[in-house]
Amino acid sequence: MDATERLQKMKTIRDFEICSLEIMSNHAKSYFSAGACSKTTPRENEEAFHRYRIRPRVLRDVSNTEMSCEILDSSVSCPIGIDPVGLHVLAHEEAESATVKACCKEDCVFILSSSASRDIKTVANEVSGLSEVHPVLWMQTYIHKDRSVTMDIIRKAEAFGFSAIVVTVDSPNGGLWRKVIPEDFFKVITTKMPILPRLPRYLEDASVTFEDLKWIIQNSKLPIIAKGILSGEDAKKAVEIGVSAIIVSNHGGRLIERVVSTIDVLEEIVDAVSNSTVEVYIDGGIRSGSDVFISLALGAKAAFIGRPSIWGLSVDGENGVKKVLQILKEELLLTMQLAGASTIEDIKRSMVVKI
Ligand SMILES: Cc1cc2nc3c(=O)[nH]c(=O)nc-3n(C[C@H](O)[C@H](O)[C@H](O)COP(=O)(O)O)c2cc1C
Repeated sequence: MDATERLQKMKTIRDFEICSLEIMSNHAKSYFSAGACSKTTPRENEEAFHRYRIRPRVLRDVSNTEMSCEILDSSVSCPIGIDPVGLHVLAHEEAESATVKACCKEDCVFILSSSASRDIKTVANEVSGLSEVHPVLWMQTYIHKDRSVTMDIIRKAEAFGFSAIVVTVDSPNGGLWRKVIPEDFFKVITTKMPILPRLPRYLEDASVTFEDLKWIIQNSKLPIIAKGILSGEDAKKAVEIGVSAIIVSNHGGRLIERVVSTIDVLEEIVDAVSNSTVEVYIDGGIRSGSDVFISLALGAKAAFIGRPSIWGLSVDGENGVKKVLQILKEELLLTMQLAGASTIEDIKRSMVVKI
């Protein structure tokens, strides 16, 4: 079966997952599926969504339902974006070049990982002039041991038209996922990551604090988004030092085993920042339009997908990623109508109950 035939058979994100796991190389599968200590940890984010139920409102004239919205002052077609995930080349030879084009054509936010297999300039060039819609590109970085590595990433992102910096704050070390990866994998990958220098100085820094995040805020022209916050207290600290947004994330269950699921702490974080203009987004286990709907009802401004974008990429490159986004958009639109919401603002807290 060729890629086009495969793509036609894909109706849900789960179809993409099953197909992707059949066709990816063993190295790719172990890298993308890995969770902290085991492959089961990422599932817990997905399962957490099953403890929430949608309570619809009826008879509300939803004939003009509209998903478009503003995220960090940019207009986008829907509140769904693509997370930073390293090494897209392991899923498809066109790598991040394909993913970013899909995102741009679907008018969604794309976050480029600092562990990407394409450099910042190449990704920016892929989409410049591609459509009338201005692509919404954000650049992710860690706070590296050598701070100049981080600053270099930020300066390049500023120069190539990215509109925000996502600083991943949950990784004082590399995380427990490394335990479930074959030994030889790391030798293969270091040659495939052009954004990071091939020297140990890019490594994580276990001494990082909120002061370092503040230093980044003070030294960048772009809005800073803190990715990896899981408590109201940390969210408040992030607001105090001046972040523009927060991504409630547990890194797709890759770092800590038995970590809290993101949907379970979302409301606490939304409440903690409610007297500020800071926007809250969520990722981890989003696999359907109803998961996005539940996230929005609990206060998220947007929901991001990690692995589903990779599954789409592996099935049929740019077209695969586009279809993943289209499936989520269609499911969200239909769910909004069925729940009585004509706009994103109409999605209310009372439309979701926890069981
Ligand atoms: C293979 C893989 C690589 C990742 N690389 C990064 C990264 O470079 N930077 C980062 O901030 N998060 C990274 N993440 C975490 C994702 O950005 C995101 O938080 C997570 O995948 C969301 O969960 P989901 O995969 O269940 O959708 C990675 C996740 C995966 C699965």
